[in-house]
Parts: sequence; C-alpha cells; structure tokens
Amino acid sequence: MYFGVKIYVFVKLLCLTLQGAAAVFGELPSPTNVRINSFNMGLVLEWNAPQNHTENITYRAEYKPLLRDFEVVCLNTTAHSCEFTSELNPLGIYSFRVRAERERSASSWVGTKEFIMDEHTILGPPSVTLVPDGADMELNIEDPVLRIKTFRRVYNNLTFNITYWKDGQEEKAESMKSPLQKVVLNLEPLTRYCFQVYVLTGRFSKQSQPSIVTCESTKAYSWEKHPWLIALGAFAGMAVTVGVLCLIVWRCYRVARFLKPKATLPEHLTEFLLDQRRSFLAMQSRTQPEEVYHEVSILFLGTETDDGDRPLVDKTNHL
Ligand SMILES: *[C@@H]1O[C@H](CO)[C@@H](O)[C@H](O)[C@H]1NC(C)=O
Ligand SMILES: *[C@@H]1O[C@H](CO)[C@@H](O)[C@H](O)[C@H]1NC(C)=O
Ligand SMILES: *[C@@H]1O[C@H](CO)[C@@H](O)[C@H](O)[C@H]1NC(C)=O
Ligand SMILES: *[C@@H]1O[C@H](CO)[C@@H](O)[C@H](O)[C@H]1NC(C)=O
Ligand SMILES: *[C@@H]1O[C@H](CO)[C@@H](O)[C@H](O)[C@H]1NC(C)=O
Repeated sequence: MYFGVKIYVFVKLLCLTLQGAAAVFGELPSPTNVRINSFNMGLVLEWNAPQNHTENITYRAEYKPLLRDFEVVCLNTTAHSCEFTSELNPLGIYSFRVRAERERSASSWVGTKEFIMDEHTILGPPSVTLVPDGADMELNIEDPVLRIKTFRRVYNNLTFNITYWKDGQEEKAESMKSPLQKVVLNLEPLTRYCFQVYVLTGRFSKQSQPSIVTCESTKAYSWEKHPWLIALGAFAGMAVTVGVLCLIVWRCYRVARFLKPKATLPEHLTEFLLDQRRSFLAMQSRTQPEEVYHEVSILFLGTETDDGDRPLVDKTNHL
C-alpha cells in the first residue's frame, strides 16, 4: 500500500514536470474539466478551453472501443463538445480523449475513465398517461426512449415503482411495484390522485429519473366493473324472496291448522273440511286457482270462519 502511494506520487510528479516542460517548449495546455454527458444512451464529451490560450485553438476528440484503437470523431472543431452517439453501441465499453490543437502544435491528451454504456448512462423518466375508469385509475407507462436501440432491447426484467397519493396529501403516499406497463389501481371514487413512476432495471439495478407528477380525478363508482357486487345484490334479493316464501308458507300452515281445528266436529263437517283442505292444497300447487272462489262461498256456511277467510284469499292472490 505504502509502496503504491510512493509510485503514485512519483508518477504524479513526473507528469507535472512534463507539463511544465511542455509549457516551457511552447506546447499548448490541455482542455480542462473533461466530462461525459450521457443521457438515454446519447453521449456527448464536453470540456473547457485551456487557460490563457483561447485564440485559434481547435480540438480533436476521439473514442476507443474496448479492444480497438482510438478513432477520431471531432476534428478541427472550435466547439467545446463532441457528439459520439451515432458511433456507439448501447452495450459497449468506451474511453474518450480530447486535446487542443493550434497550427502544428497540440496539447497532451486528456482522457476519461472507461464508460460502460448500459451501466453509466443516465436513464430519463418514463412517461405516464392516466385514464380514469369509474373508481379505477388505469396507468399506461411508456419506457424511457433511448437514442440508440429500444429500451427493452438493452434492459430486461424491468419493474415500475409507482407512487401515488391523494392530491394535497403527499405525506400519505403509497407505492407499489409492477412489471406491467398497464396498471389498474382501485381507488376511491371522485377523488383527485397524483402519480409518479420510475423504472428499475434488473441488470445493474439502475433507477430511471422519476416521471413528472401527473394528477387526475377518479369518477363515480361503476357497478358494471364489479360483477361480485351484482352477485351480492342477487344473493340479497334471493334471501328476501326465500324469507317472504317462508312467511307465506307459515301463514298457509296457520290457515290449514285453522281449517282442521283440534276440537272434534260432526263427521259430515270433518269430511267436508277435508275436501276443503284437498282443494286448498290443489290451489297451493296452482293448478286450479279457480278453487279459491269455491272455498269462499262455502266458508260462508261456517260460523267462525269469517275472520280466517279473508287472509286466505289475500295470500292466495299474492301467490
Ligand atoms: C494565465 O494568465 C494569468 C495572468 O493573465 C496567470 O496568472 C496564470 O498563471 C496563467 N495561467 C496559465 C495556466 O498559464
Ligand atoms: C490566428 O490566426 C490568424 C489567421 O488565421 C492569425 O492572423 C493570428 O495571428 C492567429 N492568432 C494567434 C494568437 O496565433
Ligand atoms: C484540420 O486542420 C489541419 C490544419 O490545421 C488541416 O490540415 C486539415 O485538413 C484539417 N482537417 C479537417 C478535416 O478540416
Ligand atoms: C418506490 O420508490 C419510493 C421512493 O424511492 C420508495 O419510498 C418506495 O419504497 C418504493 N416502493 C417500492 C414498492 O419499492
Ligand atoms: C429481476 O429483478 C429483480 C430485482 O429488480 C430480482 O429480484 C429478480 O431476481 C430478477 N429476476 C431475473 C429473472 O433476473
């Protein structure tokens, strides 16, 4: 470790000496602040002019693929940047260098570290469109658009981190992850929600810039979207119907009990009432509803039947 530091110091001193010598022999000083600006796989090398030497200076900028030699892209340019995008592969590994030139003299090169395109490029935000559908919100997410190749041909195993909150309640934000570009969230009806999404790549665990915050209101509840609610309603309706039927059957039972009282009656009357009950049962099976009227006329003959008469007729009419 100590030895390494010593070597580093020695090399550094040597470089400084050489630079001093260059200055002495009238060579150009190098461009300064050389940097790579790479966004969505576009790549621009940028630098500042050397100090005190701004007149008649041009620059030469080159790139080097991993196992090949340097190739020039910008020559005799007076700009302080060079666009490399069209030369590069999104899965490539490159180094870049630039020097100042004037007539027949040139500065020493200033190089960059190796740049791994798919790892080091900055990924821009995805774009998000919101489509409210009842109380649901549909998010359609578009991948960031790369300058070279499509996003999914470079990155796979993508996940979207979706953060959303009720407008004005950002501190209560919720978030979820989804690999899908179309996500439907069940939210509260008639409420304004805001959304922000970013992409996470499987390789290098890269995170894109977050999308701009977009807000949209959900609409009123839509029943067609929730068939289980309709099923629930149907079930409730059925339960009520069954309840009513039970009530009716109970009332019929009461009437039947009334028609066959416990007290013994004269034989001919019992027979008559049995007949009556048979016709009542037949009426229940709804094959001969006209028997109802039959019954009414005969109940006139009874002494105590006036009260029980009317509900029976009412109920059968309902059936
Ligand atoms: C640039 O010029 C200024 C004076 O104009 C001088 O102080 C400075 O040392 C010079 N820098 C270089 C790198 O030559
Ligand atoms: C810049 O170039 C012009 C002609 O091309 C020349 O006249 C001028 O002297 C040069 N300036 C310097 C500082 O070399
Ligand atoms: C760049 O400039 C040099 C001289 O300064 C000239 O010989 C050469 O042709 C120029 N190259 C281009 C591509 O303009
Ligand atoms: C999504 O990103 C936010 C902000 O970086 C973070 O707080 C949240 O935990 C993430 N959600 C998930 C599900 O990872
Ligand atoms: C996909 O990425 C997630 C993390 O974002 C990781 O947990 C998972 O193992 C990856 N799956 C594949 C098949 O690469």
